Amino acid sequence: MGRVQDKVAIITGGAGGIGAATARLLSQEGAKVTITDISQDAGEALAADIGGDFILQDVTDEALWKDVVAGIEAKHGALHILVNAAGIEGDMINGAPEQVSYDDWKRVHAINLDGTFLGCRTAMPAVRRAGGGSIVNISSIVALMASPNSAAYGSSKAGVRHLTMSVAHQGAKDRVRCNSVHPGLIKTRMLDDIHSELARLRNVSFEDSRAVSLNRVPMGELGEPEDVAYMILYLASDESRYVTGAPFCIDGGWNLN
Ligand SMILES: NC(=O)c1ccc[n+]([C@@H]2O[C@H](COP(=O)([O-])OP(=O)(O)OC[C@H]3O[C@@H](n4cnc5c(N)ncnc54)[C@H](O)[C@@H]3O)[C@@H](O)[C@H]2O)c1
Repeated sequence: MGRVQDKVAIITGGAGGIGAATARLLSQEGAKVTITDISQDAGEALAADIGGDFILQDVTDEALWKDVVAGIEAKHGALHILVNAAGIEGDMINGAPEQVSYDDWKRVHAINLDGTFLGCRTAMPAVRRAGGGSIVNISSIVALMASPNSAAYGSSKAGVRHLTMSVAHQGAKDRVRCNSVHPGLIKTRMLDDIHSELARLRNVSFEDSRAVSLNRVPMGELGEPEDVAYMILYLASDESRYVTGAPFCIDGGWNLN
């Protein structure tokens, strides 16, 4: 028996990075996994590899959310787990509050916060119909501390933290749990993009840019996508049955700063 045996799960942003590691791990632990993403080739390849399904989905498309959840309930008879992992970093070069463009601000909030809101709102009744389950929202460590070069990203992720508490509060009596995960520096495409941009901003090499960030991490190393996926597995499983509304940092101690 796996730790999420026969549970039905949706993972947005499941084609890349943390979402992909989570899709693989939940599947290994017995879940019936549907990956959704705007990245079709990678999503289809991963779904084929883990024996799951792939749906092409932009998380900002409200109407599509209803189709995705209804389709999964029709196929599997229930929905127990939603992992909202889709996200973007936005423009880090012009990321400070006085520089960030309104277009970038809206784009970052649309995907990171509105997409997570739409997922929670659409999935909650389905998870309730299933007799309870778990929604896991991927926020960020920067939701909990100042992020001078990423005002839009930090604001969107702080919004995800508060949304998580609202969802947890409303869902608690029906055992619709909702928790937020706050990664620090995790080795994915997004982090490479961030360090490339920060290298240009700081006029230093990619390695030096990464070293500046690593200085803030007491454990002195980057995390792996699997480090986050193991936390999500715990929160998705019944092992966390009495846990809701809580923030979980996976950051090598960055939260100690
Ligand atoms: N990597 C880190 O260090 C780090 C730190 C803190 C938080 N996070 C968060 O973790 C989550 C996963 O990030 P990652 O590092 O794995 O990045 P990633 O870029 O590897 O993966 C993000 C995925 O989201 C998908 N996506 C982007 N826009 C989408 C949209 N509109 N609709 C559907 N899918 C969309 C991308 O195609 C990609 O597959 C994000 O929410 C990110 O903000 C990452």
